[in-house]
Amino acid sequence: MTHPPKLLVFDSGLGGLTVFAEIVKLRPSADYVYCADDAGFPYGSWQEPALVERVMKLMEGLIVDHAPDMIIIACNTASTIVLPDLRLHWPALPFVGTVPAIKPAAERTRSKMISVLGTQGTVARDYTQKLIAQFAAHCSVTLVGSKRLASLAERYMHGESVRDADIGDEIAPCFQEEGGRRTDAIVLACTHYPLLVDEFKRLAPWPVEWIDPAPAIARRADQLLGERFGADAPGRQPVSRSIIFTSGARPPAPLAATLARYGLAWTAVVPTV
Ligand code: DGL
Repeated sequence: MTHPPKLLVFDSGLGGLTVFAEIVKLRPSADYVYCADDAGFPYGSWQEPALVERVMKLMEGLIVDHAPDMIIIACNTASTIVLPDLRLHWPALPFVGTVPAIKPAAERTRSKMISVLGTQGTVARDYTQKLIAQFAAHCSVTLVGSKRLASLAERYMHGESVRDADIGDEIAPCFQEEGGRRTDAIVLACTHYPLLVDEFKRLAPWPVEWIDPAPAIARRADQLLGERFGADAPGRQPVSRSIIFTSGARPPAPLAATLARYGLAWTAVVPTV
């Protein structure tokens, strides 16, 4: 292959930037399109069949418009339900998903008490239950489905103020104590949450390991790309990095400034839903 790989990174909003930022470190010279389905945000409250239908339709349009070489579903809420359909429908296209990092949490915990902090959708999925049964059967696992954290992270990215008490209330149920033991590892099972991890650390009642799978996802994407396109090298020049919003809305100035820090320029293209 002579042309640089084209990658589509997809999320309901800006959370996928946490994955995008890690991939860019390993594949600086790829051509990136980031699509935020802000018109469908938040995915956490969607019913499963409706969410599958929406993501499938959006992907159809995005694949036609951008012809990506790889798609990263940088969203746990979507990955834990849509990946099988995507892979079945586009068997030749590699999809890299984002699913709760329960395995590393179960490997790293000493107290054997872990929590999974995700959207209400993600923590209710059969897929998440299967990961727990497969990798964390020896642990006590607390599932915490947050209604508001993804929206708080969006507000933070828009440069709006987010109250400590609001964040604190959402993370509090992750901290469990039982017979002298307490939670020592928390899975960030929504790509929006690492955006607020400094706040989580500051507001946590005691220190824990916050597990963000983004670097591992980036390594997986890089490995798959390497098989087709060869290696990239840190420091190489980017080709193009654009962001599209399904609402078609132009990002307000504070958000545009944040996106510029990720090297992303807004494009007024609206994918078909
Ligand atoms: N960023 C998404 C995730 O990883 C979900 C946020 C939402 O739309 O509720 O689950």
